[in-house]
Amino acid sequence: FLKRLEVISQTAPNEAAKKEFLNKEIPAINKLFTRFLKNRKKVIDWSKIKPPPSEMVLNYKDLQSCSHEKTAQLANKLAVLKLNGGLGTTMGCTGPKSVIEVRSEKTFLDLSVQQIKEMNEHYNIKVPLVLMNSFNTHQETGKIIQKYKYSDVKIHSFNQSRFPRILKDNLMPVPDKLFGNDAEWYPPGHGDVFFALQNSGLLETLINEGKEYLFISNVDNLGAVVDFNILNMMDTEKCEYVMEVTNKTRADVKGGTLIEYEGKAKLLEIAQVPSAHVEEFKSIKKFKIFNTNNIWVNLKAIDRVLKQNLLDDMDIIINPKVADGKSILQLEIAAGAAIEFFNNSKGVNVPRSRFLPVKSTSDLFIVQSNLYSLEKGILVMNKNRPFTTVPLVKLGDNFKKVSDYQARFKGIPDILELDQLTVSGDVTFGANVVLKGTVIIVANHGSRIDIPEGSNFENKVISGNLRI
Ligand code: UTP
Repeated sequence: FLKRLEVISQTAPNEAAKKEFLNKEIPAINKLFTRFLKNRKKVIDWSKIKPPPSEMVLNYKDLQSCSHEKTAQLANKLAVLKLNGGLGTTMGCTGPKSVIEVRSEKTFLDLSVQQIKEMNEHYNIKVPLVLMNSFNTHQETGKIIQKYKYSDVKIHSFNQSRFPRILKDNLMPVPDKLFGNDAEWYPPGHGDVFFALQNSGLLETLINEGKEYLFISNVDNLGAVVDFNILNMMDTEKCEYVMEVTNKTRADVKGGTLIEYEGKAKLLEIAQVPSAHVEEFKSIKKFKIFNTNNIWVNLKAIDRVLKQNLLDDMDIIINPKVADGKSILQLEIAAGAAIEFFNNSKGVNVPRSRFLPVKSTSDLFIVQSNLYSLEKGILVMNKNRPFTTVPLVKLGDNFKKVSDYQARFKGIPDILELDQLTVSGDVTFGANVVLKGTVIIVANHGSRIDIPEGSNFENKVISGNLRI
C-alpha cells in the first residue's frame, strides 16, 4: 500500500506537489490505513454500552440564559465553522451542496454569512466564519464567496485532506495518478476537521487572535445557529467539548448516538453496531437521542489533544461503496468521535429546531414552504402551525433532482396543517395548492397526475391519471 502511494507520488506535476504528498498526505493516509488493518476485526463490547447519565447530557431548557454582557465577552472568543466538504450529489447537483439555493434565492452559504452578519451587528462583535472545504468543493466555494470579499464578515477557508479510495479485494489504492481522476479520491469524513485545521495553520492563527471556542456544524443544517446559552455553559463548566443531541423519532433511526462507554462519553454510529444489535440500536426506547453534529470545542484543547496524538485513536467508519463497477472502501472519521478524547465533554439535549438538515428535496420542500419564514438568515417556524412537529414528507424519485423538483411545482403548496405527504410517480403541482392532514398522491407507471392550481386537499388519496 505504502509502495503504491510512493509510486503515485512520482506522477506529481511538480516538486512542491510531490513533497506535499510525500511529507504531509502519505503519513496521514498511512496512519489511518494501518489502524484500519489493526482494528478491522475489533467489535465494540455491547455489554459495556450504557445510556449516558444525566450529568453527561444536560437538558437545554435547564441551561442558564446568558446575559448580554457575557454574550459580548464570549463572542469575542468565538469562531464559527461550517463543514463544507460535501457535494450535492444525492440531490442531483454536481457542485458543493452549500451552493444550492434554499430560500429567497439564498444558498446555504449565503444564509450562514447572513446569520453571522446579523449576530455581529446585534452585539457589535466580529465573529469570523470558517469554511472547511474539500478538493471537491474548494474551487466553486472560492468563486462564490468572492462576493463577500468586502463584507463585514471575515471568512477563512481551508481544505481538508484527500485520501485514495481502496480496492476492497486486495486493499490497494484505487488511483495510480496523483491528479488523474478525482473520483478515485475522497475527503475522509468531517472528523478530519481537527487535523486539517491544524495542518492549514488556521488553528494557530485563531488561537493567536484570542479565539477560544469553535462552533462546528454541517453547512446544510439550517437550525445550527450560534446559541450563547450553550457557549455560556461550556465556559462556566469548563467543558472542552460539547455535542448537541436531540430526541430521536422513528424517522432518525440511523443517526449516531451518545453513550457512556468505559466511564466516558462516546459516539456510537450505526456502522459500529454488531448486526445482532442493529434493531436495538435503531429503537427509540434504548437509544433516545442522536448527534446533530452541532459541536462546540475549545481551540486550545484541540491543539493539546493533537499534540498528544490522542485523536489518532478516533474510531474509523468503514464506508463500502461501488464505484466504476468496483467494490471499494472509504475509511472515514466523524467529528463526533472526538468527544471521548477531551476533558469534561458533555452533551446538551437541544430542541429539534436546532436540527434542520436538508438532505433531500423532501427536506427542501419543507424549508421552502410557508411552514417557515426567514428572519435575519434564520428559519423560524410559522406560529400559526397548529402542531409543533414538522410534517413527514416523501417525494418520490421523479422529484429527486433539484431541477426536476423545481420543474414539478408552480409554487410550493400551503402545508401549514399538513401531517404527512407522499408523492410518487409523474406528478406536477399548480400554484396555490393547499394540503392538510394526510395526503397521498400516486401516479402509476405510465400515467400522470397534474394537481390543478388552487386545489385544496385534506386527508385525501389521489391515484391514477388526473390531467386538467
Ligand atoms: P455527511 O455527508 O456526513 O452527512 O455530511 P450526513 O449523512 O448527515 O452525516 P452525519 O450524520 O452528519 O455524519 C455532513 C456534513 O459534513 C460535511 C458535509 O459537507 C456536511 O456539511 N463533510 C462531510 C465534510 O465537510 N467533509 C467530509 O469528508 C464529509
